[in-house]
Amino acid sequence: MSRLMHTLHVDLGERAYPVYIGRDLLSDPALLAQHVAGSQVVIVSNEVVAPLYVDRVKAGLGKRQLVTEVVLPDGEQYKTLDTLSMIFDRVMADRHSRNTTFVAVGGGVVGDVTGFAAACYQRGVNFIQVPTTLLAQVDSSVGGKTGVNHPLGKNMVGAFYQPQAVLIDIDTLHTLPARELSAGLAEVVKYGLIGDEPFYRWLQEHMPRLLAREEAALAEAIERSCANKAAVVAADEREGGLRAILNLGHTFAHAIETGQGYGAWLHGEAVAAGMLLAAELSARRGWITRSEVDDFRELLRGMHLPVHIPKDMSADTFLALMAHDKKVIDGRLRLVLLKAVGEACVVDDASERELRELLESGYAHE
Ligand SMILES: NC(=O)c1ccc[n+]([C@@H]2O[C@H](COP(=O)([O-])OP(=O)(O)OC[C@H]3O[C@@H](n4cnc5c(N)ncnc54)[C@H](O)[C@@H]3O)[C@@H](O)[C@H]2O)c1
Ligand SMILES: [Zn+2]
Repeated sequence: MSRLMHTLHVDLGERAYPVYIGRDLLSDPALLAQHVAGSQVVIVSNEVVAPLYVDRVKAGLGKRQLVTEVVLPDGEQYKTLDTLSMIFDRVMADRHSRNTTFVAVGGGVVGDVTGFAAACYQRGVNFIQVPTTLLAQVDSSVGGKTGVNHPLGKNMVGAFYQPQAVLIDIDTLHTLPARELSAGLAEVVKYGLIGDEPFYRWLQEHMPRLLAREEAALAEAIERSCANKAAVVAADEREGGLRAILNLGHTFAHAIETGQGYGAWLHGEAVAAGMLLAAELSARRGWITRSEVDDFRELLRGMHLPVHIPKDMSADTFLALMAHDKKVIDGRLRLVLLKAVGEACVVDDASERELRELLESGYAHE
């Protein structure tokens, strides 16, 4: 039985949209169908997720005149312009009109590529997110960032494009590999650290329930995460300022992901190691305490997430990769640090020396 547990609204004026969270929502015929305007639908998924969930999504759409299924190869290495082209080839061949609706069924890779395809196809068509990884449910499906990677940098080609609706069926998490679940939980913890201390404390207490995939706990964590993200996005949709705090740990993480080759470390794993570096830097500046950093490291360990950067990455490599990051504005590297647990701030005064000391310390490597 379908059971809607929470409905959130991302408050963006005429681009506002609902985020539905619950159990067995894919089988709810009304929920998805009400957001599909016309009679044409493009379902984009990948070879892992499609066999598991696409039939249920199709059933939920009811009868449509034209349904095109695009099944992408699986993996971050396919988050490319070539994949985007492949989607357009299919959609053009099937003659989809401007009135079509793109539905992304999968993790963040499928969601980001499909969202960008929807933003570009005939200059923008309807778009619905059905995220099936925890990371996509709490992060990538909400907020409208879409895009693909370039060989020289992650997410370098893309667009802001908000969906019409996000449908989060927590039952899809039952098939998710444990490593992916932990990676998603890293982003969940991020929301606590940057702006919601009570949530962070709740996560410290309830982490075992989340790792055991207890539904009530998962629904609660997803709802709190999406609410936090929605509030930040509503205040600063296009990252003029505040939205940057969502990048806690990400400047370090992107260096790890680029340095190791896309796909070697999971995004959330790199974010975990990156957030710990940011926490350590915050402690070195006297903003949070040593014991808060230690507690955070223990939390990550309990979640089976990395607490060190890759052994083979030198400080030089790291700094060079960080200099390439999108967060560099006018030659100044912007970093998200913690003024306190539950309060992020953006700094642009981290010196190369401060970063080098951090990256060369026993702290960064094992
Ligand atoms: N747009 C944004 O705001 C934003 C935010 C954060 C991350 N991202 C992007 O999201 C991507 C990472 O997303 P991700 O972690 O979901 O990775 P992913 O999309 O690669 O999915 C992870 C793996 O899980 C599989 N999978 C998905 N759902 C499953 C299910 N229910 N059961 C079994 N297997 C399943 C996928 O096929 C894949 O192998 C990155 O490209 C990152 O840049 C975007
Ligand atoms: Zn992230």
